[in-house]
Amino acid sequence: MNKVLVSEAMSAYALDTLRTSLDVCFYPELWDQPEKLAAEIVDTRALIVRNQTQVTAELIERANHLQIIGRAGTGLDNIDMAAATESGVVVASTPHHNAVSVAELTIGLMLALARNITAADRDTKAGGWNRNKYTGIELCGKTLGVVGFGRIGFLTAMRAHALGMQVVVFDPYVDPDSTLLTQASAELMELEELLSQSNIVCCHMPSTPATHHMFNAQRFSEMKPGALFINVARGEVVDESALITALTEEHLAGAALDVRTSEPATPGPLDKMDQVILTPHIGAFTVQAQHRVEAAVCRDVMAVLNGTSAINAVNFPSPRR
Ligand code: MLT
Repeated sequence: MNKVLVSEAMSAYALDTLRTSLDVCFYPELWDQPEKLAAEIVDTRALIVRNQTQVTAELIERANHLQIIGRAGTGLDNIDMAAATESGVVVASTPHHNAVSVAELTIGLMLALARNITAADRDTKAGGWNRNKYTGIELCGKTLGVVGFGRIGFLTAMRAHALGMQVVVFDPYVDPDSTLLTQASAELMELEELLSQSNIVCCHMPSTPATHHMFNAQRFSEMKPGALFINVARGEVVDESALITALTEEHLAGAALDVRTSEPATPGPLDKMDQVILTPHIGAFTVQAQHRVEAAVCRDVMAVLNGTSAINAVNFPSPRR
């Protein structure tokens, strides 16, 4: 039996594609049912997840027939990569397929913060007409600090440059001679320097032990007074209580968070702050990005179960078990 287990949301189109040759078990809430997930995984040959299913070493150990884990998205922080690789299971993600959408959301949030769009919208719908109160800032001529210069950081930098912004970049893994910096007219620098120069800082770092709470009280204090902060990467990279303090003390003028420490987010002080924009991890949620992501993950799952290779494999293209 070629059982494919899909433990999070997936479109009917993608499911139908898989069903042309595979037996699909689709439980969009399975990520939140660890016992059922542990039972279902036993005879599964391919597991398809987004970012909510925790693919732990224990789960992989139970999955004796598992050939491939397809990650419909970019981040791999919910998958125990070492355990999958040790067990010979292919992990395939969709690294470039949603990057444009995340970069576009970053630009959207930056404009919304700079022009108080969400607060003005709420106020106007409540009967207000407060033009002075919602006086904003122009982005043209401002400095954007891009923290994390992978595909999303690069695409964001290109778009910011087109808006007339200066772009500075921090990324410990970027070659100072990278032509991507030249293409984006961006200057690579140390984080401390970037924070002290930027009017707006956007975070595109993955969640790893090294980036946990990378944005803490110290980092926020190094930012310019009145700066804006945007996180569209992973909630764990930001110490939310330090951010709340920086906003409450008005050291930062505003923040936009698409990702949170716990998702779904629990109610808290950020919900009540007018200068804060919160969205429910929708960076990759556009029609186009989802279509690309789902098509790519289905293609790799079908390839591996049909005995060929995964194009977007992160560890190895064919199972080693
Ligand atoms: C990603 O990692 O691709 C995005 O954050 C969206 C997701 O987690 O699925």
